[in-house]
Amino acid sequence: MKEINTGSTAFIYEDINELSDVDKNLMKVAVEATKTAYAPYSGFNVGAALLMEDGSIIIGNNQENAAYPSGMCAERVAIWKAGSSFPNKKVKKIAITAVSSNKQLDKPVGPCGACRQTLLEYEINQKEDVEVFFMGEIGNVVKTSSIASLLPFSFDSSYL
Ligand code: THU
Repeated sequence: MKEINTGSTAFIYEDINELSDVDKNLMKVAVEATKTAYAPYSGFNVGAALLMEDGSIIIGNNQENAAYPSGMCAERVAIWKAGSSFPNKKVKKIAITAVSSNKQLDKPVGPCGACRQTLLEYEINQKEDVEVFFMGEIGNVVKTSSIASLLPFSFDSSYL
């Protein structure tokens, strides 16, 4: 038996103001993106913002449906928008945040497992890590240096 490092080092920032200007701006765009989410069923509006290699920003937000499982998360809306419109542009960073109608979200809202898996596919293909930032409505911001670090022992095309 031996212990291994699964590579999940994370950084915690006190709040959004502790981020660099570029990162703070990206998170502010994610906050803006929560406002156009379509989440009438959960009241949980998620915003995601991707910083592309050319400096452009692509947003996504959750899009729900009366047939609940037909809805989609913010992160996948964003990455599929990037993948479909700009398949050759690399993604440098993703910022994620949420606003709930039930309570003030005071801890960082991380991407769900399915979104981690989806984002990983694109990170592997572009052969460059994507920095991830996530926060609640207020308080700490978590940063990880890659999608892979959020998904130890992940499944990928090498198994197929
Ligand atoms: N949601 C996201 O958009 N991203 C996540 O990573 C977690 C959950 C959405 C899905 C649904 O519309 C609402 O949040 C409540 O689960």
